[in-house]
Amino acid sequence: MKIETERLVLRPIRESDGKNICEQLSNLNVSKWLLVINYPYTLNDYKVFLKQSQKKWREKEKTGYTFGIELKSEKKVIGSIGLQRIDKRQGTATTSYWLGEKYWKKGYGTEAYNAILDLAFNKLKLRRVEAEVYLKNPASEKLQKKFGAKIEGIKRKARLCAADGKIKNTKIFGTLKEEYKPLKK
Ligand SMILES: CC(C)(COP(=O)(O)OP(=O)(O)OC[C@H]1O[C@@H](n2cnc3c(N)ncnc32)[C@H](O)[C@@H]1OP(=O)(O)O)[C@@H](O)C(=O)NCCC(=O)NCCS
Repeated sequence: MKIETERLVLRPIRESDGKNICEQLSNLNVSKWLLVINYPYTLNDYKVFLKQSQKKWREKEKTGYTFGIELKSEKKVIGSIGLQRIDKRQGTATTSYWLGEKYWKKGYGTEAYNAILDLAFNKLKLRRVEAEVYLKNPASEKLQKKFGAKIEGIKRKARLCAADGKIKNTKIFGTLKEEYKPLKK
């Protein structure tokens, strides 16, 4: 499956993306905001991620979609975004995303997340998408709120961050189909 937006292509990751993804993810400014990304991030870590992702793509009843975010102008994967824990019967899923630091603040996160919410609400007909964001992550909070997400609570000492080994509090953001604000075309 491939989703095309103005400047991006969301597509399954490949073995050949490994070196580039390792470079982008071996940066604590990125991975300190993520859950299971080791620091430094090695090709072996990537191989595990690739295998898990390929397994998900083979599922008949999909419980997750993980996309590499390819920047059309550079023909290069600059990050990753996904819908996870899809429960079609419940109508729910969770989401996560990251971009390499040099690609921040150019609207790529907005563009990619808009495509993921379109997949969740319009194609998969889900009711709710949840994001768990470490406290004091202004970029991710802004992205969530831009699309109509509401803060639903704080989970104290909820997660152990693999990159820096710290225990972190998280904020739960919920976006409901009826409240979601898609990007205007
Ligand atoms: C979260 C992330 C994907 C956002 O991507 P991005 O391409 O930089 O986001 P955008 O350029 O689309 O910006 C979205 C909004 O957030 C704002 N924003 C971006 N970075 C910001 C920052 N550091 N502080 C405050 N606001 C910020 C932008 O101004 C924009 O708001 P606007 O449309 O009102 O101007 C990116 O910052 C990232 O990869 N961070 C590290 C990993 C991470 O935190 N992942 C999420 C884990 S929950």
